[in-house]
Amino acid sequence: MLRLENLYVRGKDTSYIVKGIHIHVKPGEIHALLGPNGSGKTTLLNALAGHPNYLMEGTALFNGKVLSKLTPEKRFKEGLMLLFQQPPSIEGLRLYDFLKMVWLTQKELDDDIKNIRLFNNDLKKALGSVGVKEDLIYRSFNDKFSGGEKKRIELLQLELFKPKLALIDEVDAGLDVQALELLKSRLKEHVKAGNSALLVTHNFDVLNHVKPSRVYIMLSGKIIETGDLEVVKRAHRAWND
Ligand SMILES: Nc1ncnc2c1ncn2[C@@H]1O[C@H](COP(=O)(O)OP(=O)(O)O)[C@@H](O)[C@H]1O
Ligand SMILES: [Mg+2]
Repeated sequence: MLRLENLYVRGKDTSYIVKGIHIHVKPGEIHALLGPNGSGKTTLLNALAGHPNYLMEGTALFNGKVLSKLTPEKRFKEGLMLLFQQPPSIEGLRLYDFLKMVWLTQKELDDDIKNIRLFNNDLKKALGSVGVKEDLIYRSFNDKFSGGEKKRIELLQLELFKPKLALIDEVDAGLDVQALELLKSRLKEHVKAGNSALLVTHNFDVLNHVKPSRVYIMLSGKIIETGDLEVVKRAHRAWND
């Protein structure tokens, strides 16, 4: 599903931030990426999603397609979605309109009454399963939302758009206990449906629960340790001592 081989990423005006990494995610797998701040995790995820400030060199394939040849929109339509560490706010763009537009685009449907009704049904279900109050979606996108609300909106999008591969950047940071439980159960459902995730997290409670197939520790743009959760727990302890 996702094949990264000897992948380098740099900013338009920077030297390499990600330096030759290998990651291979298959359908139904969660891979976890750990590492101290500034190691390049967010840069990697942004580049994969198509952020225009980053350039990739080496191999980055998604479902056999060369990612750098696809626009961010095409990547999303192919099934790749980024959940932000710091979700942006957009004043003047109603969350409802944004979700509707993306939903219609993803399904290649027209903006007619029948389709809007289908969208409304889907949205209602998704709102229920992530516990987002309906009045939030009639406000500007994330504008003056609390940190926790913004994170729940990211989960709402996971639920609504069901990406084949979710790139999840520290969505657990800033979640309350209840929302963390929700994240854990949503991730399990996500994988059960045959979808995958590349999960950046420092939260061992989440990791213990989702049982990633593979865990990587990243430092200064390189993957310095790879293994199952137990191997990485030992490395993590050693490196925190
Ligand atoms: N567009 C950019 N321009 C300059 N430096 C950047 C840019 N993007 C990321 N960096 C730098 O790259 C390093 C890795 O950042 P980041 O990917 O956010 O790390 P992490 O998510 O692991 O904390 C940091 O030193 C950051 O300041
Ligand atoms: Mg980051």
